[in-house]
Amino acid sequence: MAETDSRKTIVLTGASRGIGHATVKRFSREGWRVITCSRQAFAEDCPWPAGPEDHIKVDLADQEDVGIAVSEIRHRLEAHGGQLNALVNNAGISPKLKTGSRMDSIETPMHVWRDVFQVNFFAPIMLARGLFKELAAAKGSIVNVTSIAGTRVHPFAGTAYATSKAALGSLTREMAHDFGPHGIRVNAIAPGEIDTAILSPGTDKIVETIPLRRLGATSEVADIIYFLCSGQSSYVTGSEIHINGGQHV
Ligand SMILES: NC(=O)c1ccc[n+]([C@@H]2O[C@H](COP(=O)([O-])OP(=O)(O)OC[C@H]3O[C@@H](n4cnc5c(N)ncnc54)[C@H](OP(=O)(O)O)[C@@H]3O)[C@@H](O)[C@H]2O)c1
Repeated sequence: MAETDSRKTIVLTGASRGIGHATVKRFSREGWRVITCSRQAFAEDCPWPAGPEDHIKVDLADQEDVGIAVSEIRHRLEAHGGQLNALVNNAGISPKLKTGSRMDSIETPMHVWRDVFQVNFFAPIMLARGLFKELAAAKGSIVNVTSIAGTRVHPFAGTAYATSKAALGSLTREMAHDFGPHGIRVNAIAPGEIDTAILSPGTDKIVETIPLRRLGATSEVADIIYFLCSGQSSYVTGSEIHINGGQHV
């Protein structure tokens, strides 16, 4: 039976491309209302039927803008009972040198380091705290998107990126501890080499050594995000799931 009046709602950052885009499609297919966040305004030619009322234009690198976005999201949720079933912190940046090489811990300019931490680490906790009341009201679920680079030096991912993802993994554990008593589950997913625009040339060489011998598809990541936001994972919190074809072994 259709349940259009009791649709579950997810707020998803970095929805315009890659893993985020596949996640929008996955949750929409399951009948969720998806509130998307990215720097771009809603594209008028986008075939997605939900329309601009479910899109928030926000630059997560700008703290003030994140605060404004939180108020706007809360306002939009109010009209639907003030409940939020899931927050997925997916947006991330991984700056490279002009040559395409990784930015190491000796050369990375401090302003780059700060921007990376603002987008990859501070924005997720700002959103989670800002939407805490709505998440608690729905006994919702938070998924933070980390990376394999958070636990080992990666040939292309830079130091600022790697350390921001390690910090986000640690934050996931802290949040699971603190948010759990309020009924909110907090987990992370750590993708390996997934076929999106964030990948660097040369990734095909890494893939040769991965046990499953192929890139991951964005839909395979979206499936795990969906699982972590669904009732099927109701006793899972504080975990970080590797989605990497065995790359971490
Ligand atoms: N692909 C992989 O192999 C891989 C591996 C490990 C981890 N990850 C992680 O998975 C997540 C998604 O990766 P992806 O490969 O799908 O990335 P992507 O294709 O580069 O997309 C990144 C998304 O983040 C948004 N974004 C970037 N900066 C933003 C900002 N300042 N404010 C708001 N939105 C911003 C972008 O939207 P706009 O440009 O429209 O603003 C875009 O939707 C990231 O956290 C990434 O670190 C990916």
